[in-house]
This record gives sequence, C-alpha cells and structure tokens, in this order.
Amino acid sequence: MKIISSPLELKEYLKTLCGDPEKKVGFVPTMGALHEGHISLIKKARGENEVLVVSIFLNPTQFLAGEDLDKYPRRDEADKKICELGGVDVLFFPHAKDMYGEDEVSLLAPKVRGYVLEGTSRPGHFNGVLTVIMKLLHLVNPHKAYFGKKDAQQLNLIQLMVKQMFMDVIVVPVDTVREKDGLALSSRNAYLSSQERQEALKISASLYLAGKMVSKNVLTTKEIVHAMRETLAPLEISYVAIVNRDFEYIEKVEIGNSIILVEAKVGTTRLLDNIWL
Ligand code: PAF
Repeated sequence: MKIISSPLELKEYLKTLCGDPEKKVGFVPTMGALHEGHISLIKKARGENEVLVVSIFLNPTQFLAGEDLDKYPRRDEADKKICELGGVDVLFFPHAKDMYGEDEVSLLAPKVRGYVLEGTSRPGHFNGVLTVIMKLLHLVNPHKAYFGKKDAQQLNLIQLMVKQMFMDVIVVPVDTVREKDGLALSSRNAYLSSQERQEALKISASLYLAGKMVSKNVLTTKEIVHAMRETLAPLEISYVAIVNRDFEYIEKVEIGNSIILVEAKVGTTRLLDNIWL
C-alpha cells in the first residue's frame, strides 16, 4: 500500500498506476477512526474495482465553531493497518494546509436541501462536506465513490452535486453497519460512556418501532413520529423526520421512496441514524 500526503503527488501516482483507462478506480473518502462501517465500504469498493484509493482527512471546513474537531478520535496507525488489510492500493493522508489555501473558491450547499435536518443543526456543515468531496473527486478521478447510508443527507447532497456539476463518478450508497444490539456504528460512539451507550440504543429502537408500524400498514408520518418520540424520551431530540429520497417531508410513508431519520443527543454526543423504507 502506497501512502501519499501531497495532492499533486497523488495525481501523478494515480496517472502511472491507472495508465489504462479501462482500469476501474474505486474511492472511499473517510475522516479516519475507521470502524466496521468503513471496512464494509472498503470491502465493497475492493470487490468492484482494479485500483482502490482511500482517503483519511479530518476536514476542518465541515466542523462549525465549537464542534468536536479538536477531540475527534484519531487512530492513524490502526487506520493504516485496516487499510493495508483491506487491500487498499493507495492511502491518501493529506494535511489541511495541502488541501486548502488562503483565499478559497467555495462551494455552497443548496439553500433548501442543505439547510433542513442536519443542515438546521449544523448550518454550513454541508458547504464543507461538498467542497472537500469535490476536491477529493478531482484528485482521485474515480469511476465509483462509496458513501454510507447512515449519513443519508450527506449522501443525497453528494449525489445532487455530482448530477448538477455533470460529474462522471458513480456514487455508490452502502448499508449502515450495526452492533448486535442495534447501535449504528459511528466514529463518535467513542465519546459514549457505557451508560450513554445503553441510552443510545433508544435511537435504533425508535427506528425499529417505525419499521414495525409501517409493516403493519401504519403509514401516516405524524403517527409514526409521535411513537418514535415517545421511545426516544428522555433523550434530547434534534429531529425525527420522514422524507422521500429527495429529502422532502412527506405525510405518508411511500415504500421504496422513504427515509426515516433521527438525530438525538446522548450526553454531549449528537448521534444520527436512519432507515430506508
Ligand atoms: O462522512 C465522512 O466521513 C465525511 O463527511 C466525508 C464524506 C469523508 C467528507 O469529509
């Protein structure tokens, strides 16, 4: 596995490695602190491409002032091992100063889809996500890029950016990986005490309840959201929402076109989860 930190060196190296345009390049962007969720992205990408590039970059522009940028878990050596074992060909590990200059061209998230749900809790967050993904996609120039469904709104906005900017990359959504007891894997789970981890199970429990209601043909979103909020109590809820795959609020669950999302605070940690129905 080749580890590269300079963006221009990465471009040059990939040119030589992927001389044949038929060679498919898969790309998995991450912020490190890799867990089984990332490993499933890496596995899927490894199986579908000749060349596999992973990036580890704790992108400062997607953190708002006062958020957890400084305490975000870092496990650089363990991450490198995971990539090596996952058959990664190139690990891109840049420094912030190599990715950003002084007076930056910026990319803005759409005014509607970028400012609902997670965009309301973290206004401007998606500007940073889209900007860094645009930069990374230009550097790696992959055929396919892999993103977890757990960050459903992020995934949706990246798909929108790729479409609206006429980019060639195929965005591949990958299912959320959960612990046996239902907790969705997240690098931020590292912040939870054992009691908080127990409380966090209310989040997946509320989603399972929603899934059960839908399977019994209760489709009215008001009714489902109400029951979910009861299950989540007394957690501090940022939102419980049911949207279609274009992230528009809907009044009735449409099977095959709905996402049920929760964001709640457990202790001081904000956790996200969702199910796609
Ligand atoms: O989901 C993440 O880890 C990050 O938001 C991403 C997509 C790597 C961009 O920094």
